[in-house]
Amino acid sequence: MNAAKKLASAIALAAVVATPALAGPDDDNLMINEELNMVTETAAPAHLQDAFDTIYSGWRFRTDETQALQIDDFENPAMIFVDQALEYFETVDGTEGKSCSSCHEDGPEQFAGLSATMPKVIGGKLTTMEDLLNAHRAKAMGAEPWKWSGPEMQAMVALIGLQSRGMPMNVAIDGEAAPFWEKGKEMYYTRYGQLELSCANCHEDSYGMMIRADHLSQGQINGFPTYRLKQAKLISKHNRFRGCIRDTRAHTFAEGSDEFRALELYVASRSNGLSVETPAVRQ
Ligand code: HEC
Ligand code: HEC
Repeated sequence: MNAAKKLASAIALAAVVATPALAGPDDDNLMINEELNMVTETAAPAHLQDAFDTIYSGWRFRTDETQALQIDDFENPAMIFVDQALEYFETVDGTEGKSCSSCHEDGPEQFAGLSATMPKVIGGKLTTMEDLLNAHRAKAMGAEPWKWSGPEMQAMVALIGLQSRGMPMNVAIDGEAAPFWEKGKEMYYTRYGQLELSCANCHEDSYGMMIRADHLSQGQINGFPTYRLKQAKLISKHNRFRGCIRDTRAHTFAEGSDEFRALELYVASRSNGLSVETPAVRQ
């Protein structure tokens, strides 16, 4: 960014940032259930090296109280929803009279590793986990689609994501994915709204600062769907994007739009190398 642009975004940020320069991430180590050691800090992927040396999980920016909720699955409020998804997995739905487990007899464990690579291009289309599940419900079960950010959908996305917990995020950005990734990248650096702020103005230029009562992170999505204490439910990635764009006082895109699919791929690629933390807990 050139100096004039940097100054312009500093002024825009001053409108929303309460405390200027503050500390970066803390030094805490995330070990879940006393056995699963998570990578919350690692070298930035090659495509990001002009921006950062190191990427950090959002967990490292949370208070000790919030962090504690993710250290033990008995304390993690998202696990109630994961349990509900286990029930949906066994429940017959749709015209074919089938449940997930009718065909996936080994249970959700068979999807280990899948979420770390999503979204990805399938049949020419950039496909998120939500897309995969709804297409699959229609085709395999004759069942109605789930709402994108609805409780059934996000619980199932969390259950499948949990099977990859601890594995490194590893979305592909080359080949067929490249044009989608480029589009997402362009969005990430576009200034939205009356405040004229891009994702990068906050999550790249200003992470570590306080914004209102929030310690600003790098905006990683390795923990999604995430349980937000403020909303007391699981939040989808696209819901979080909407909220962040709305905060710049801009009109935003719809959940499940092609714009947000592309943005999801790009943001996921900024997390490549961090452990999947799904389901994470945030403020
Ligand atoms: C005005 C500053 C601002 C802008 C612009 C902004 N965000 Fe955020 N974002 C926040 C704040 C504040 C939070 C909550 C604290 C945190 O986790 O960083 C947040 C949280 C997030 C999170 C959750 C991180 C986690 O670990 O749970 C994601 C993902 C995210 N933002 C993505 C984006 C994307 C993508 C854009 C651009 C479309 C964007 N943000 C634009 C301020 C911003
Ligand atoms: C009629 C049998 C059937 C039912 C019912 C069914 N599936 Fe599947 N599922 C399959 C088959 C076969 C595949 C592999 C081929 C494919 O991707 O379509 C698959 C693939 C998947 C994949 C992708 C795996 C990968 O690595 O790409 C996911 C995720 C999945 N199923 C989840 C579910 C969930 C969740 C349900 C219940 C809501 C469900 N399935 C119901 C047969 C079924």
